Amino acid sequence: MDDQMDDQLAQPQGCPRLVLDPTGRGRDAESAELFARGPATPVDILGVQAWAVADPELLEELTRDPRVSKDGPQHWPAFDEVVPNWPLALWVTSRNMFTAHGAEHRRLRRLVGSAFSTRQVTALGERIEELTAALLDRIAANEPGTAVDLREHLAYPLPIQVIGHLLGLPDELRNRFRHHVDRVFSTVLSPEEAAANAAAFYAMLDELIAAKREQPKDDMTSLLIAARDTETDGSALTEEELRDTLLLIISAGYETTVNLIDNAIALLLTHPEQLALVKTGKASWDDVVEEALRRDAPVAHLPLRYAVQDIELPGGVTIRQGEAILASYAAAGRHPVRYGQDGHVFDVTRPVKDHLAFGHGPHFCLGAPLARLEARTALRALFERFPHLALLPGTELEPVDSLISNGHRTLPVLLDGHTAR
Ligand code: HEM
Repeated sequence: MDDQMDDQLAQPQGCPRLVLDPTGRGRDAESAELFARGPATPVDILGVQAWAVADPELLEELTRDPRVSKDGPQHWPAFDEVVPNWPLALWVTSRNMFTAHGAEHRRLRRLVGSAFSTRQVTALGERIEELTAALLDRIAANEPGTAVDLREHLAYPLPIQVIGHLLGLPDELRNRFRHHVDRVFSTVLSPEEAAANAAAFYAMLDELIAAKREQPKDDMTSLLIAARDTETDGSALTEEELRDTLLLIISAGYETTVNLIDNAIALLLTHPEQLALVKTGKASWDDVVEEALRRDAPVAHLPLRYAVQDIELPGGVTIRQGEAILASYAAAGRHPVRYGQDGHVFDVTRPVKDHLAFGHGPHFCLGAPLARLEARTALRALFERFPHLALLPGTELEPVDSLISNGHRTLPVLLDGHTAR
């Protein structure tokens, strides 16, 4: 599959290609390598070759450059060869705004864009407060001294319930969707396991669409179906685009926000002096959210983009037409060119707050206002309710098995700082 690509992406300095660790454990060492090797580095992503870009300045340029596409079938010659045997195939085969370019992208994004505007999201504020309070009530019902996994009992259920509410997902489907979304983000599945997961996910989406067609409600799924079934001017979604747009919103709406809430809690618990800055009013919850996004981008690497033409980079490297590009957002968030030598330091008072955790350019995350609101609400309510929250002593936080998803397998805490029973 890769011989031809291998030759094309030969590392200029003669270094061996950087093979990305599918378990996520090698992330920090990989970021250091990406910094050292220059603005764009040939990498291997589960057997597929791409240029990883971690330099935030270059990443901003490329993500808004019309010569860079996300449409694999149109702009990636390796597409047909790669897809049948690549565990990450779903990331490049689905047909929605995420994998569309130019006018097609604008058409696919416009239909859902308004539902995620800051105004619409602000209107969800009260609902998010209520959902958070109910989750914290349940957590508080644990006896003092019991270890509680906050990833499982707060970081997961909040975004799931919010996206479930927006899309009108029936309760019984929510956890089934979660199982499939987790596996979309996993990078340790075999191609067969990943294909089986995609098929099961699609079957559930078909079930959802059929149920909503039969009994439409006041939710985004019903609105998208209505737009598809009634539009006649050619701008509406095809059936495949409808299904894949739901796939995108469900997937993007869960795991990423779960990681943000998980990472921010973990950072505050391991940096009590930073938490103290918030408690004493010297920093805000917004500062915490932005700094957590910068330091630990919830989407570490994002597959894939493709050069529509040859693109010359500073330093004499050329990304050739048809070659793939990987946006390495986690490394970009700590890159020395923007954050100096202390990019790994969690500092909620940092003067340079901008980051690329939500991407940049036309594909900038549609759900950013929603994710920020959920995280701010969850963090404020959690630390107000449990001011003595502490990590379970002896905990070694472990990454989820993914080179894309950047969070922890579990986040065990003691609610009141008592010792574990
Ligand atoms: C902390 C939480 C989140 C993070 C870190 C995040 C990250 C990202 C990133 C990096 C992209 C850009 C992909 C690219 O490079 O092309 C993106 C796109 C997207 N995100 Fe998010 N996301 C988050 C939450 C959400 C939520 C809550 C939703 C919706 C409910 C959402 C929906 C989308 C959609 C639809 C796109 C595709 C936009 C396009 O291609 O035009 N995201 N997200």
